[in-house]
Amino acid sequence: MKLIICFILAYLIGSIPSAYLLGKIYFHQDIRQLGSGNIGTTNTFRTFGFFPGTTVLLLDIFKGTLGASLPLFLGVPGKQWVLLVGIAAVIGHCFPIFLHFKGGKAVATGSGILLAYNPVLFLVAATMFAALVLLTSTVSIASLVVMPVFTIITFVIHDYYLLLAAIIVTIIIYIRHLPNIKRLAKHQENLVHIGLVYYL
Ligand code: G3P
Repeated sequence: MKLIICFILAYLIGSIPSAYLLGKIYFHQDIRQLGSGNIGTTNTFRTFGFFPGTTVLLLDIFKGTLGASLPLFLGVPGKQWVLLVGIAAVIGHCFPIFLHFKGGKAVATGSGILLAYNPVLFLVAATMFAALVLLTSTVSIASLVVMPVFTIITFVIHDYYLLLAAIIVTIIIYIRHLPNIKRLAKHQENLVHIGLVYYL
């Protein structure tokens, strides 16, 4: 019973569309009509700027961390539940009940699971991600490269629960990034100038 509550709550937490709410409340605009139309961190940076983008990044990471932490809060033993319940938050983010099941692309919320599960590995993945974004100014490239690399790392360190979760989240992220993959193939992907050069 506790686990069912965890899954439902995590899905609902993941469903909270922070980028959409921030756009509506502070800018009186619907982010789904702006930029790429995605309700995620990247599009918030792109359309509303650095501080709103950072806010959405932190909130979306927090959704994953909070969702994944529910089994710990409710006393459900077993680290595998942190990962599986966290994935429910990712599914909520991608298919939010509050926005007719049209949501984001899973990267920030997915990383929040890792923060709850293993903060050191979160820092490793976040560093790789940030380096790729700064190098390419293309967030989708960072997402699409870091996920498989991170999945290989989980195999190398013999964390098979994390490996399974990484494979599931990678599949979700790749499916959600199909439009980005098509744009990348045509050299038409949107850039995000969040590198230091742009903001200093
Ligand atoms: O992983 C990158 C993703 O957030 C891209 O978003 O808005 O460029 O489609 P967007």
